[in-house]
Amino acid sequence: MADEAGCGDADPTDAMFRSKKKNPETDAARVLDEDVVVIVDRAINPYLVLFHEPAGFRAEQVRALRNRLVALNPDGEPKTLVVTSAVRNEGKTVTALNLAMALAELERQSVAIIDADLRRPSVERYLNINPEPGLADLLLGRATLDKVLRPVGYRKLMLIGAGTRVTNPAEILGSSRLDELLARLKERFQYVVIDTPPVLPSTDAGVLAGRADGTLLVLRLERSHKSQSKDALRSLQDLGANVLGTCVTEVRGQDPDSDRRLAYGPGEAEEL
Ligand SMILES: Nc1ncnc2c1ncn2[C@@H]1O[C@H](COP(=O)(O)OP(=O)(O)O)[C@@H](O)[C@H]1O
Ligand SMILES: [Mg+2]
Repeated sequence: MADEAGCGDADPTDAMFRSKKKNPETDAARVLDEDVVVIVDRAINPYLVLFHEPAGFRAEQVRALRNRLVALNPDGEPKTLVVTSAVRNEGKTVTALNLAMALAELERQSVAIIDADLRRPSVERYLNINPEPGLADLLLGRATLDKVLRPVGYRKLMLIGAGTRVTNPAEILGSSRLDELLARLKERFQYVVIDTPPVLPSTDAGVLAGRADGTLLVLRLERSHKSQSKDALRSLQDLGANVLGTCVTEVRGQDPDSDRRLAYGPGEAEEL
């Protein structure tokens, strides 16, 4: 009798592949054909373009952002930079990581990235590295700076992960230990990029932005609500943040796939 669910003869491995294919968390699972899945690049977030496609157009856009930020700092003083946005899922973490990688590409530039989103940390997950003691442990005096600073495996970029989950992130981030930490990091690093929670649902990002040298506001061109981004900007400014500018992500139609004049790989010039 035919199986009503239609999967009586299915190979269990086939079912496994199918379920993997549907899992949005298996970001790096690339489907080559109907039933074959290959896990690539150790599951590093596919939007980390500096890692996956360093010669591509999108990586160049991140370098352009980096160059603008570096140009705002002609004396080359060590700087702390907060990356934030109005609400979640606007690309803060991906932007912070891409920017930190682009800064780390510059010669003689020592860079650290801090996951200060103690509520929904994701930097370690996007890099596919193990969570370890991190920022929360440091601010609670349970770990030393040398213990929590870890190499990312990309140039000389170093990471301080979020660390042990805590119930009172606002209180921990508001402590004077954070100022001491930022001052110490500026003795060791040229740029310290700080990934944060969103501005509107909690006070964490405002607290961090008010203490950093500069803040970048991320928004998604098509999906972010203008009024929310404006509210976030106002709130950051009210808290004394030095908002340097906005970074717009998911801009469609601005890449070599849709406009050949933007392509500039080897041999492209002859074809145009
Ligand atoms: N440029 C992009 N286009 C489409 N999806 C993206 C882009 N950048 C990031 N993402 C995806 O969107 C989700 C949210 O990104 P994330 O950087 O974690 O946002 P946030 O830190 O603001 O919550 C992630 O699943 C990420 O892989
Ligand atoms: Mg995030």
